[in-house]
Amino acid sequence: MSQAPQQGFTLWLTGLSGAGKTTIGQGIEARMKALGLRVERLDGDTVRQGLTRDLGFSKEDRDKNIERVTYVAKLLSRNGVGVICSFISPYRQARETARRETTNFIEVYVHAPLEVCMSRDVKGLYAKALRGEIKQFTGIDDPYEAPERPEILLMTDRQTPEQSIAQVWAYLAERGFVPHDSAEGT
Ligand code: ADX
Repeated sequence: MSQAPQQGFTLWLTGLSGAGKTTIGQGIEARMKALGLRVERLDGDTVRQGLTRDLGFSKEDRDKNIERVTYVAKLLSRNGVGVICSFISPYRQARETARRETTNFIEVYVHAPLEVCMSRDVKGLYAKALRGEIKQFTGIDDPYEAPERPEILLMTDRQTPEQSIAQVWAYLAERGFVPHDSAEGT
């Protein structure tokens, strides 16, 4: 009689600053919106201006940042929303908590070598970190614990943003969360 209801999921983009998390998240969000699907994007750069603006970048504060975001993603994803989270989220344990707490958690490791992220330096933050003007900068003087078994691995130094977005989309379609791209011919 009616179509199957949209299933919620939590697409979790983790990786260094400048690896491409925001760009890929925006691409998936735009495609979902164009199809009228329910989607919400939570991104470090904006969430840290609101919900978590009281937090800095110590391990404790990063854990709190991810804990609050996980809570929001839990509420949305269990109610049929596709949630796209893009956060450095450098600590494995915090990401594993997000996996346990949210609905249909999908870990995406947005990977580019540190040197590539540094050379992109879109926000000029790596230069500042190297000059010692920002402390505890991930990859410079703060750790990043790479995912061990991410559902999706994107090598953004070897593929275009469009290719990365298509790779994520194909995975979501395979899981039945979004329709297959007609251009894929499947
Ligand atoms: S997380 O570690 O808590 O997941 P989050 O993704 O929210 O980080 O925020 C990262 C963004 O904050 C970066 O893209 C960058 O613009 C900014 N930033 C400012 N200081 C730092 C820092 N010390 N380490 C990492 N990112 C920083």
